[in-house]
Amino acid sequence: MASTRPQSAERGDNPGWELDRAEIERRVKELGPWFHNINLKGVQTAPDHYLGDYPGVKWRAFADALPQDLRGKTVLDIGCNAGFHAIEMKRRGAERVVGVDWADSYLEQARFAAGVLGVDVEYRRLSVYDVGLLGEKFDIVLFLGVLYHLRHPLLALDLIHAEVARDLLIFQSMQRGSREVVEVEPDYDFWETGIFNAPGWPKLHFIEHKYANDETNWWVPNLACSQAMLRSAGFEILSHPEPEVFVCRRREMPDGPDGPRPVYAARRSHSS
Ligand SMILES: C[S@@+](CC[C@H](N)C(=O)[O-])C[C@H]1O[C@@H](n2cnc3c(N)ncnc32)[C@H](O)[C@@H]1O
Repeated sequence: MASTRPQSAERGDNPGWELDRAEIERRVKELGPWFHNINLKGVQTAPDHYLGDYPGVKWRAFADALPQDLRGKTVLDIGCNAGFHAIEMKRRGAERVVGVDWADSYLEQARFAAGVLGVDVEYRRLSVYDVGLLGEKFDIVLFLGVLYHLRHPLLALDLIHAEVARDLLIFQSMQRGSREVVEVEPDYDFWETGIFNAPGWPKLHFIEHKYANDETNWWVPNLACSQAMLRSAGFEILSHPEPEVFVCRRREMPDGPDGPRPVYAARRSHSS
């Protein structure tokens, strides 16, 4: 998928806000704690992250699986947090990048980081369940590290398919359980019960209380389940460049009861 990287002149040469290092450090501290470690002109936003240089360390493991040149492309980053990936998309020349997140505190960080770096990203406070309000389809949708934070994960994938995905979906989820994958058959007899105990059967593990001291973790898939949910929601898996990451292409789903109809009536923008 790789092609030549856009030159900086084509990316725009906005130098960003003129803040000295002490002022950047002061604001970074004020806006913290940060989940994204972003280099803001020499100031790291989360230098002591428990996952290391995060999400940079993960991004570098799958960055080459995405097109290097995004000129003319539109990108939606759902659950954008402080905008690490949105910034990377602009660095690849994306024409328009929209980042949405549910948390005001992260969006404030994202706006600050984009301002300091001189990157033009449109940030909006929006839940994934309301992406229909954007009234727009995007060439690339990033859905990274959000699925397991949702009480209704398959609904979110269905809504992304129905409302905002035009072509590529870049998906990442925490995964637990077996990394085996059972080739799922089209149907099973009612008396076939053993298959559910196979380690590679798609399983979504429900977290009733907390996992990793985080009460927003609700459902954690195993590898087979990540793949099955993506397929079921209408996304063909093109590549799997990192254990938790899938590059997918949206495919049209059949109309009728077998299609992935979101059971929740999507809220749409007035213009659509
Ligand atoms: C683990 S972080 C992942 C951030 C980023 N996408 C990444 O991969 O580094 C999860 C993010 O999803 C956001 N989030 C959680 N529930 C959401 C929802 N219903 N709609 C939109 N964003 C949500 C959180 O606020 C948080 O920023």
